[in-house]
Amino acid sequence: MAIDKNKQNDLSAMIVIFGGTGDLTHRKLMPALYNLVHDQLLPKHFAIVSIGRREQTTEHYRKEVFESISAHSRNKIDEKYWAKLRELIYYFKFDFTDQAGYSKLKDFLDELDKKTHTNGNRVYYLAVAPEYFETIAQGLHISALAKTDGSWNKLIIEKPFGKDLKTARKLNQKLIEIFDEKSIYRIDHYLGKEMIQNIMVLRFCNSVFESLWSNKFIDNIQISLNEKHGVGTRGGYYENSGAMRDMIQNHIIQILSLVAMEPPVNLETESIRTEKLKVIQAIDEFTPEYLRENVVFGQYGKGIIDGMPVLGYREEEKVPPHTSTETFVALKLYVNNLRWAGTPFYIRTGKRLGSNSAEIVIQFKSLPKVLYFKDEHIQDPNLLVIRIQPNVGVFFQFNTKDFTSHHDIVPMKMEISHTNQFLGNTPEAYERLIFDILRGDATLFSRWDEVEAAWTVADKIIAYREQKRFHFPNYEAGTMGPVKAFQLLARDGREWWNI
Ligand code: BG6
Repeated sequence: MAIDKNKQNDLSAMIVIFGGTGDLTHRKLMPALYNLVHDQLLPKHFAIVSIGRREQTTEHYRKEVFESISAHSRNKIDEKYWAKLRELIYYFKFDFTDQAGYSKLKDFLDELDKKTHTNGNRVYYLAVAPEYFETIAQGLHISALAKTDGSWNKLIIEKPFGKDLKTARKLNQKLIEIFDEKSIYRIDHYLGKEMIQNIMVLRFCNSVFESLWSNKFIDNIQISLNEKHGVGTRGGYYENSGAMRDMIQNHIIQILSLVAMEPPVNLETESIRTEKLKVIQAIDEFTPEYLRENVVFGQYGKGIIDGMPVLGYREEEKVPPHTSTETFVALKLYVNNLRWAGTPFYIRTGKRLGSNSAEIVIQFKSLPKVLYFKDEHIQDPNLLVIRIQPNVGVFFQFNTKDFTSHHDIVPMKMEISHTNQFLGNTPEAYERLIFDILRGDATLFSRWDEVEAAWTVADKIIAYREQKRFHFPNYEAGTMGPVKAFQLLARDGREWWNI
């Protein structure tokens, strides 16, 4: 993967986390930083400054971080590595909505730079609610914190990047007035997942797959991001988001673009992003007539998950009782280019479903029913399943003769699991992403035009949903979504594969 050579020779850096006491920092960022220390992947000179509104000492904050890492890290805490990380962490009390306060922050960071030898290189990580992105960027700007003076700066933005195309454009305009596009890292944490990175390797390093990777040999492609958990304490956020903005506009469209893209001319960041963009732009236009037949929205009602009763979406914290926000979407779409015309992509995602699994299923076309199709000889299609989580690996299904019955044909399942097979669990997405940010490799982050194209697609579907009335809830927690999501495929003589 390409490394941005621009001022990247010096990897020393300070990561400044806005939202240092928040959930993302405690559950994802700190455990990721711990594992980077554990795997000796952080630069020699490094510091972490966590910003929070709460009054507390660095000592106290470090204790909290220790608790979070103990609870969420994939590697158990080893005193040796913790001692190293601990010394890198500083807490700075600051209300980031106070524009006047940024100059104090600058003084603090500049002073710390001298002590930590981080050379003024900064990663500003906005682990805060999206409504603060502009405010913080502005504060960094007016205090000259965004200025580079022989050093480098990077701005890390969590999703959602805007609420629709219009707001995303406005936000982007504001950000590029302060940071250049190459310094903006728009996080889509799915891109940091091991098997998502593996999509390109599977496709472009295996002649058997790449030669068959088109509408000529593939019957349909399914992308499912199914979750058992509900919205939990995030009802307030989710109400303004729904599954369309929370999962489809970003994670699913990104996965789709990797699955369907043309081989890039090389592995440079921009070459890959350009090919991904073309896929999003080739998604067939959604008219209201098309959507009426090909999209299914759902919202969970109460039900049972893993033997425990759970609330319906409308009963969740901070969710209004008559809301029509969707917690499930299933959609059939086409990528209208020479490689994919005519091959349906079925995508679905939902909360409080009966399974917790993220998978891509490539269903190959069946052979003409000439041989071995009589009577009991029913052949299953060849399937290639890319398992993103909770199992991480690849599964391939092919037909073979059953040794025991002398005549039956049975589907054989070849499974390669990465979990625990080589060096323990696969790295968490955030480890990879932070590592890449420090090296200046933006391949696993979304370029602005990709985000823009994805909103163009999502906006049409959201607009359609907004003018419809639904009889929600329409699926029970613990099931696999509304009945209509099954009919969407059954109508085409297909089914969702749960392998
Ligand atoms: C986030 C969404 O981006 O991804 C959440 O906001 C969702 O609603 C999460 O639960 C899923 O990520 P993961 O890594 O747990 O599959």
